[in-house]
Amino acid sequence: MSGKLDGKVAVITGAARGIGRAIAARYVAEGATVVIADLNEAGAKAAAAEIGGACSGMAFDVTSQESIDALVAGVVAAHGRLDILVNNAGIFDMAPTVEISRESYRRVYAVNVEGLLFTTQAAAKQMIAQGRPAGGGAAGKIINFASQAGRRGEPLVAVYCSSKAAVISLTQSTGLDLIRHGINVNAIAPGVVDNEHWDHVDASFARHENLQPGEKKRIVGAAVPFGRMARPEEIGGLATFLASADADYIVSQTYNIDGGNWMN
Ligand SMILES: NC(=O)c1ccc[n+]([C@@H]2O[C@H](COP(=O)([O-])OP(=O)(O)OC[C@H]3O[C@@H](n4cnc5c(N)ncnc54)[C@H](O)[C@@H]3O)[C@@H](O)[C@H]2O)c1
Repeated sequence: MSGKLDGKVAVITGAARGIGRAIAARYVAEGATVVIADLNEAGAKAAAAEIGGACSGMAFDVTSQESIDALVAGVVAAHGRLDILVNNAGIFDMAPTVEISRESYRRVYAVNVEGLLFTTQAAAKQMIAQGRPAGGGAAGKIINFASQAGRRGEPLVAVYCSSKAAVISLTQSTGLDLIRHGINVNAIAPGVVDNEHWDHVDASFARHENLQPGEKKRIVGAAVPFGRMARPEEIGGLATFLASADADYIVSQTYNIDGGNWMN
């Protein structure tokens, strides 16, 4: 069976669970060799074993340059090349403006912004060295995870929302720079996806807004024009399209996949 990503080598950060894991399963089904790179090494390996096929897991900390370099070197040593990077690792925190701590700010920015930029840089160096495939096509694909939170601020979520706005901006600038090397950089902005990430978001809102556990999820799910939150698997089709040759002419864009929440 021929898949949309046959013969491609992909790295997905933060894919031990949630959206990244669903994309890993989809990419393997589309013919790619996939490396799940996650802070949770045991989770990365367990997810890879459950997905099966050409999927492996390795320890990775997106906040460490050493770990970023080891990831790219390890993937190239094991698989000979790197064609697709999905910058999916991301963390959430929230607090009223007057209570935001520098520690929380630094942690969120270290993962969501700095980590994403320098993983992009390391992958791009490898993709530039590989060059375009004989017969044309892209030298590489980089897909960033933004969020609807990056489209509009929220009163208690200044740090996370601004980190995701930075992802949209980094996607624009790095995409405009790297396309001359044949590397497409684009981003996905999910709305609300029902998984462990949102269990944590729900618990945080319950604390700050005095809600019952599960109440924030119910409210945001009911407000989606589609009628419910997304399932992680529903992001996989867009992530596959952006990694495929069908998207070679798409540069620096951020795509909403949110059941109709936003229109930009
Ligand atoms: N779930 C949603 O509703 C939603 C909505 C919009 C955007 N997003 C974004 O999509 C991406 C994936 O979200 P998710 O819901 O699957 O999240 P998740 O919390 O379920 O998974 C995140 C993964 O990242 C890993 N991780 C955390 N810190 C890391 C680090 N320093 N180095 C490497 N890995 C690390 C975690 O171990 C975890 O496996 C994130 O960037 C998130 O901000 C999620």
